[in-house]
Amino acid sequence: MCGIVGYIGTGAVQNILLNGLKNLEYRGYDSAGLALNDNAGIKVYKASGKLNNLVDLLSHKNNTANTFKGIGHIRWATHGKPTVENAHPHLSNDEKIVLVHNGIIENYQELKDKLQAKGYTFHSKTDTETAVLLIEDEYKQTKNLEQAVINAVKQLKGAFAFCIMHQDEPDKIIAVRNHAPLILGQGHSGNFIASDIPALIGQASQSIYLDDRELAIVTQNNITIKTFEGAVKIKPMTLIDMKAESISRRGYPHFMLKEIMEQPDIMRNLLSSSLSAKDAPITFSGLDADKLFSHVTKLEIIACGTSLNAARVAKALFERLCRLPVEVTAASEYIYKTNLTDENTLCIGISQSGETADTITAVRQAKEAGAKVLVLTNRANSSIIRYADASLPLMAGIEISVAATKSYTAQLMVLYLLAVMLAEKSNKITPAYAETIKNTLLTLPALTEQVLDLSEQAKALAAKYKNATDFIYMARGINLATAAEGALKLKEISYINAVDYAAGELKHGPIALLDENMPVLAVLPKDSVVFSKVLSNCEEAKARRAPLIALTTESAVLPENIFDDIIRLPDAPELVTPMLCAPFLQLFAYETACALGREVDQPRNLAKSVTVE
Ligand code: AGP
Repeated sequence: MCGIVGYIGTGAVQNILLNGLKNLEYRGYDSAGLALNDNAGIKVYKASGKLNNLVDLLSHKNNTANTFKGIGHIRWATHGKPTVENAHPHLSNDEKIVLVHNGIIENYQELKDKLQAKGYTFHSKTDTETAVLLIEDEYKQTKNLEQAVINAVKQLKGAFAFCIMHQDEPDKIIAVRNHAPLILGQGHSGNFIASDIPALIGQASQSIYLDDRELAIVTQNNITIKTFEGAVKIKPMTLIDMKAESISRRGYPHFMLKEIMEQPDIMRNLLSSSLSAKDAPITFSGLDADKLFSHVTKLEIIACGTSLNAARVAKALFERLCRLPVEVTAASEYIYKTNLTDENTLCIGISQSGETADTITAVRQAKEAGAKVLVLTNRANSSIIRYADASLPLMAGIEISVAATKSYTAQLMVLYLLAVMLAEKSNKITPAYAETIKNTLLTLPALTEQVLDLSEQAKALAAKYKNATDFIYMARGINLATAAEGALKLKEISYINAVDYAAGELKHGPIALLDENMPVLAVLPKDSVVFSKVLSNCEEAKARRAPLIALTTESAVLPENIFDDIIRLPDAPELVTPMLCAPFLQLFAYETACALGREVDQPRNLAKSVTVE
């Protein structure tokens, strides 16, 4: 995904746009660019690599105080390498129209062929350049930017959010939204456009979200919203209640560490909003659970990445507590599977950003197949909500670091609460057992704080294993997903090839990988179910000379001389150990990435939310 910004007003345009891009950097950081409009016309500045390269470029330009509007872009490359030629903004051939884009234009090639046949010249490998040349072509007929944009976007297929300027229409910026988020902001000095609210914090006081197939004509003093059919839409502005503090590192060296440390308080917030005491019923504000779960005979949980690992924990929870069959599918695979969804299926879509294209597409398909849809998301106004019958907020606050951490345990907490609520309502668990689980959930924030106190042990472990090229995480049962999430965290920020396996599967092939250079981290909290089996798998691994790490709990008794390292988490019922293991594995991945000097908050090749399929 990319980030786009626009501003028109009396403020310092260049600084406002760069500040906006800085706050959107988590959306992509392959290249960046600005188009600035002053009395002399529109000038475009682009740089490949991080945003600072653009800042350096601009620091050498002669500052034109009379710049009155501009648009900007920060890129996660989809079409074309992250070169300057492919960086946005993109210009029309007559260099009078300039555009920035977030999303993907699916039919760009056929449109590009037609435009080339008409004599238009392309300078990049991007799908985006097709859009600006299509608008140029339409403008030749309409001599009006708004109409040219409407004519052009009606020909596009796919996801697109645009900011567009025309040199001959200096009083406006046109913003367009279709299946890619775009928010408008109103401030005392002028008006703003951005892909996400962090770009508006500290700048605008009120905001409006554009909906799909809408455009906005943004002038210094006014915002007019229309549909692609030209109908004017009247929408109320809402106050921006997010403070600058919510997107600051608050003294932490990285957003990731700040977000890891926020987890106990986020759990407290979720618990206090749904569970007042161990003998109280679980409730979710605004959720009619009886209606949502009525006649449900099957759950389908759809997600990607870390959210998919949360879905895998949820499968174990709902099957064990609610006796409900649960199917978990990676969203990118959902569209290929034989669809057995019906009106008795509840589809749960999990997405921190609410903008993951794969998950939105899959959830939309499940809804079209008759399922009721519940979404869990951290972003209230995100695209996925549009396809939901009900939604539950993660209440985790903005998550800036590309690696998901606090949103993961927030997803788990919501899923635990939901599963216990449903199990109680359907009398699948006794009131006494329900009270026991609720009491355990209420202790999780304090237990998590104890886990986070192990940061020095995580650091020592990272120092010892940071030069591993490969890593195996293994577990059984409900912690299979824990192993997967731990491996994903290590992979995505340290670039070490970490792979997760079911411990019982190791001897069916992967054990051939083991030697003194293949560290194995075993997730084996003390419990009555899988502990002894995982221990046997550890002995098998040790017999192959693999360095062995145990992620276990206080009271677990481990044989001597098997493990090279033992991390002991606080004791807790096996059911909630995924909640306790995750923060430690996040810390281990974080410290390993730091020890390797990685770009912890902005790992290479990644973006915070993948808004293309
Ligand atoms: C996790 O650390 C990654 N950033 C990635 O796997 C992410 O979880 C995935 O892209 C899904 O994102 P979503 O929850 O916003 O849909």
